[in-house]
Amino acid sequence: MRFSRLSQWCAGSWRISWRLIPVFAIAVLLLGAGTQSLRAETGRDAWLRYARLDPKASAKYSAVPRLILRVGDSAVLESAEQELTRGLRGMLGGEFHTTTALRREPVILLGTLSQITPILPDFRPPQSLSPDGYWLAQTKMNGTSSFIITAPNDRGVLYGVFAFLSKIARAESLQPLNEVQVPANSIRMVDQWDNLDGTIERGYAGGSIFFEDGHVREDLSRAGEYARLLASVGINACAINNVNADPRLLEKAFLPQLGRVAEAFRPWGVRLALSVDVSSPKAIGGLPTFDPLDPRVAAWWQQTVDALYAEIPDFAGFVVKADSEGRAGPASYGRTPADAANVMARALKPHGGLLFYRSFVYDHHLDWRNPKNDRARAAYDIFHPLDGQFADNVVIQIKHGPIDFQVREPVSPLLGGLEKTNEAIELQITQEYTGQQRHLCYLLPMWKEVLDFDMRNAGQSTPVRELVSGKTHQRPYGGLVGVANVGMDANWLAHPLAMANLYGFGRLAWDPTLSAQTITEEWTRLTFGNDATTVDTIDAMLLSSWNIYESYTGPLGAGTLTDILGSHYGPGVESSERNGWGQWHRADQAGVGMDRTVATGTGYVAQYSPAVAKQYESAETTLDELLLFFHHVPYSYKLHSGKTVIQHIYDSHYDGASRAAALVGQWQSLKGRVDQARYEDVLRRLEYQAGHAIVWRDAICNWFARTSGVPDEQGRVGHYPGRVEAEDMELRGYVAFDVTPWEAASGGKGVECPSEFESCTASFHFTGAPGRYDIDVRYFDQSNGVSQFRVYLGNQLIAQWSANEQFPAKVPNADSSTRYRIRDITLKTGDALRIEGRPDGPEHAALDYVEFTVANPDPKH
Ligand code: GCU
Repeated sequence: MRFSRLSQWCAGSWRISWRLIPVFAIAVLLLGAGTQSLRAETGRDAWLRYARLDPKASAKYSAVPRLILRVGDSAVLESAEQELTRGLRGMLGGEFHTTTALRREPVILLGTLSQITPILPDFRPPQSLSPDGYWLAQTKMNGTSSFIITAPNDRGVLYGVFAFLSKIARAESLQPLNEVQVPANSIRMVDQWDNLDGTIERGYAGGSIFFEDGHVREDLSRAGEYARLLASVGINACAINNVNADPRLLEKAFLPQLGRVAEAFRPWGVRLALSVDVSSPKAIGGLPTFDPLDPRVAAWWQQTVDALYAEIPDFAGFVVKADSEGRAGPASYGRTPADAANVMARALKPHGGLLFYRSFVYDHHLDWRNPKNDRARAAYDIFHPLDGQFADNVVIQIKHGPIDFQVREPVSPLLGGLEKTNEAIELQITQEYTGQQRHLCYLLPMWKEVLDFDMRNAGQSTPVRELVSGKTHQRPYGGLVGVANVGMDANWLAHPLAMANLYGFGRLAWDPTLSAQTITEEWTRLTFGNDATTVDTIDAMLLSSWNIYESYTGPLGAGTLTDILGSHYGPGVESSERNGWGQWHRADQAGVGMDRTVATGTGYVAQYSPAVAKQYESAETTLDELLLFFHHVPYSYKLHSGKTVIQHIYDSHYDGASRAAALVGQWQSLKGRVDQARYEDVLRRLEYQAGHAIVWRDAICNWFARTSGVPDEQGRVGHYPGRVEAEDMELRGYVAFDVTPWEAASGGKGVECPSEFESCTASFHFTGAPGRYDIDVRYFDQSNGVSQFRVYLGNQLIAQWSANEQFPAKVPNADSSTRYRIRDITLKTGDALRIEGRPDGPEHAALDYVEFTVANPDPKH
């Protein structure tokens, strides 16, 4: 039996759309009128918008010369000059000209130290300048007051130009201008996990800007634009392909294609790097082996690297993931990571290339039954004994935590465990475990905590930032690597506010002593302008967002309680347990947490210096936020906060979800201050996040309530006034089903409309008090279909929508669970409500529940 016909759906939706058009058009005109001065922005320019300053701000820069003299003609210097002209024209208006010689008028002089010294005989550059650093100064030249942007190398001049423009964009005073900047780290690199077919592993913003259909894209303009963005924050290298590397990239015939990417990067001083598969000599080289100690293998690497440098003379180096998550590695031949790293490093060395060997090496078939097993130990256990055995152009690339970019982890002990080896810390800009750019999660505060963490090696102050820069042990190389995964989406990272993570990464790589507040304010001003309310509001939202996300996704250092076997997105508490992946939290009826102590646990704690180990060994001296990473405790364990562990889990999830909802209001307060396009985009994402935070809250709370048997002392968990479960409604066509995992749906069940029906209905009567309500319809929006929904109050259609989002799920679960909010509906007790769902192929218009909350009409919305 059919409950509705396709033709009716179509006719109905057309009728409604046409009737709405005049109203819609007027609304658009009115909205536009309020924000006339704010042109719609796509985010493509990111923080390099060069928006025109208002006359008052622009007056501050009347002393900026309108003439630019560039000495030297490299591609990087040309970029510097063009950028300067572009930026100044954009921000200050009017014309800026270039000249080829000093004249008796003020000028902005660009060039390296060695280029400008001959034309300025009295020139005394600061002693502290080092490669990639720069000097910005205002000085008298030819009797006029001019500006100098200079550096030991071309790249430094380019960085100086970006810094100069940034000051103007942020309305910072240039009086007096005399600033020397030198990067704290020589390695300031991003990794992209792009695949040859154009997809990106853990990328959330569209396809690859480098590859499509097995080759390098014809149009590399985005690659060039990306390099410009990277250069603007001082990033000087980019590895463009997945660490799970495709060996075909190293085939001789492929090299010219890579050469084109390097060419797109070169004007911006960004060097190309590649991820390589250690089995390449066998996979594509025709050798019977890839044993790193076999001379044929060494010869193959040398030839391959030589051919690469013939094509790309400024090639930066290789990134290697081996013996990890199913990748080939030296272990196949009983060789060590040092053997594998050194054979490639030796080939790179004559060309000045580096070999980045990732310490993300672990056994993903660990026996979970053995309480002494611990994945967190792996990196230190494997790499610490090899300290001193790596070639001097090898850099060990170490994830900041011992597991895998969880929302909270302690600092990896390996960062403090290498003295005779170069190291770089790997941070993740793409929000794999932290909301995938659908949730706001600004990671700077977390990265700052990591970089400032004191490892207390040999009883001395040993901050991580100094270990990784190479300062502590006087290593020649060191720095930061960020996994960025930008994509073809116009605004690079999908969520307009996620770009703060990319910006912040670059700024920290340059100067890890900068505070999160300073960097955040820079980014906000550059991205949204200098309006004080806008800056304060966005800064506050960003700086609170990691803590908010952590509150509803991963309590007390237990790890992000997500589906670790698939999407790494929505909640999936049990996916971590009873398998070999080792992301265990060990939650059972009695308690929760991994015992990693020396006394009774896995002994991981001993990998830290004695001072740090002492602190983590005892639950008493471990901070609450990491308690469950280090200790297994009963649910009744009292935290320093005075709460029990179980009550903290409930409270933090409720608190986190309500703070996520409050972000919406904070953003709405900026209506009219931010251009409409970005305003709407962010608003839509925040509203979704607020809804998904409830999925998280309910899943985690219900899971722990059922497992522990301890009720929420505030009576919230499991009790949802105002909620009507879909399975309790009167169903026509719809059938109830069990959702997996059970905690992903309210009551563990949803209803779905089997595909043999064109549509199904779920009806019920409103039993609450009369009043105005927001009605949330919680449904499942899979990526493999576009179901349609309509909601009727009596016979009146009050909402209709399509389930057309691309969440990472092809089934109804916590990843696809989302909500549609019908705002401010007046209801009487007993009113009849009916939801009609029309399935589309494998997507069955599934529903979870409807929830009524008293409306709070917001005039801003
Ligand atoms: C995570 C991520 C993988 C990635 C791996 C790595 O496990 O989920 O997609 O390959 O890290 O960093 O190598």
